[in-house]
This record gives sequence, structure tokens and C-alpha cells, in this order.
Amino acid sequence: MKIAIGCDHAGVELKNELITLLKNEQIDVINFGTDNNDSVDYPDFAKKVASSIKKNEVDRGILICGTGIGMSIAANRYKGIRAALCHDIFTAQMSRLHNDSNVLVIGSRIVDIFTAEKIVKIWLCTEFEGGRHDNRLCKIRDIED
Ligand code: RB5
Repeated sequence: MKIAIGCDHAGVELKNELITLLKNEQIDVINFGTDNNDSVDYPDFAKKVASSIKKNEVDRGILICGTGIGMSIAANRYKGIRAALCHDIFTAQMSRLHNDSNVLVIGSRIVDIFTAEKIVKIWLCTEFEGGRHDNRLCKIRDIED
């Protein structure tokens, strides 16, 4: 699997921890920054990660900002992106099972690093259930068109 990851200034520390985790899991990572604490605008990084998914450079993406709210709003503007803001293991798992989320969004000021790592691990290994949920995703695609 290949993952694109991006964050704003609020998410740099958590992003670095997650990059280490991903590499330990033998996952290829494209890091779109930001990589320091200078203030930046989260939509710029949501755009980089969403575009990478749309170009099929990666399978899925991870975005981090302070609350995760800005990143999820921005990422979900892109056609084909199903970004899920997850604060716990249950929502992360369900976002894959029922929603086929292709972007995981985490709020670095909401969850601690230990929880974030557990969220990422379950999100990575959970497959979309399909079935009745496929029809619902089709209806989302209809809204996009
Ligand atoms: C940055 O201060 C903060 O607004 C941002 O990280 C995020 O929480 C926005 O939704």
C-alpha cells in the first residue's frame, strides 16, 4: 500500500510519528508537508493529498490539523474523496467498513499520539464491506456529478 500524508503546522509532530509507524508497517509514504511549525493554510495540504489520490499515485491519504475539521471540509470538496474525521478506533473502523473512506483525518489537538496510532492501524487493515453500502456510495457519486 502507498499512502500520501499531509498536515498543517498543528500536525507536524503527530505526522512524523505516523510516518514512522507507516514505514514500520512496510507502507510507502509520500509526505506532502508541512514540515515545520511556521503557520500554513490547511487547504493547501488537503489539496496535495487529494490530488495525489485522484492521480492514482497513492491508494489512500492521511491528513492532520488541529481539530481535523478544516482538513476534512477541504478534502471532501474533491470529487472521489471520502475523507473521514475519526477521533477513535470505532469511527476509524466504521469509516472503512461502511464508507470506504480513502482519507483518514485526525485532529492532533483532540487525540493523543497513542490513540492516533491505533486509529491508523485499524484504518489501514479494515476493508470496505460493499453490499448495501455500495449503493450508498453510488448516491454520493451522483451528488458529485
Ligand atoms: C490552526 O490553528 C487550526 O485552525 C487548524 O489546525 C485546524 O484545526 C482547522 O480546522
